[in-house]
Amino acid sequence: MKEYYDRRAKEYEAVYHRDDPVRQQELAEITSAIEEAMRGRRVLEIACGTGYWTQRAAKTAAHITSIDAAPEMLEMARSKNLPLDKVDFHLGDAYKLDILGRNFDAGLAMFWFSHVPKARLQEFLTGFHAALEPKSTIFLAENMLQEGVGGELIRKPGIEDTFKRRTLADGSVHDILKNYYNRSELEAIFSPFATNLRIEMGACFYRVQYSSSLRQS
Ligand SMILES: C[S@@+](CC[C@H](N)C(=O)[O-])C[C@H]1O[C@@H](n2cnc3c(N)ncnc32)[C@H](O)[C@@H]1O
Repeated sequence: MKEYYDRRAKEYEAVYHRDDPVRQQELAEITSAIEEAMRGRRVLEIACGTGYWTQRAAKTAAHITSIDAAPEMLEMARSKNLPLDKVDFHLGDAYKLDILGRNFDAGLAMFWFSHVPKARLQEFLTGFHAALEPKSTIFLAENMLQEGVGGELIRKPGIEDTFKRRTLADGSVHDILKNYYNRSELEAIFSPFATNLRIEMGACFYRVQYSSSLRQS
């Protein structure tokens, strides 16, 4: 996955510029919701990619520490020249967050959650919440499964995860782990970690927002 994103870095942000009014409207709503949710917060951002959402969250956040596993994606993020007193970008692993200390009162994970294998969901969520102060604000958004958008959905025998088959501009083809969830599955996953859980299912994207509960490691 890291190699795929390194190769995709320069073309990645095209996903945010598709000529589709519904998509653009939902992206605008997500942007507003992030600006509101991150206002004044010390944010830990997981899998920041090219920093598209970092830039938006930085408008209102007090500070953002953003990590990603793909150096080429981070290079794109750093090239945005976001204010150095507000944003730190680090090479890092979403499953090894304990090295970051616990000085965060918000967590942001945009278009990352779908890439977590089902067998690692609890590991990721436990580590994510443990890296944040109790009662932190959490915000994440993801794609809805849409026929014909973002490549063919692939199922593999004996594997509970699904994949999207993606072709990059250089012609390389990649099966990228990408899981989709409905509202009740999301409620079941996040309820144990959440108070004030809000789940919005759109046509193109869903978003999940809550305050992390006190019951975390
Ligand atoms: C779909 S992109 C999302 C990028 C950005 N958050 C956005 O929404 O535009 C997924 C990102 O996850 C990163 N990634 C993959 N595995 C990772 C890991 N184990 N730890 C941290 N980041 C990872 C990839 O490099 C990629 O930038």
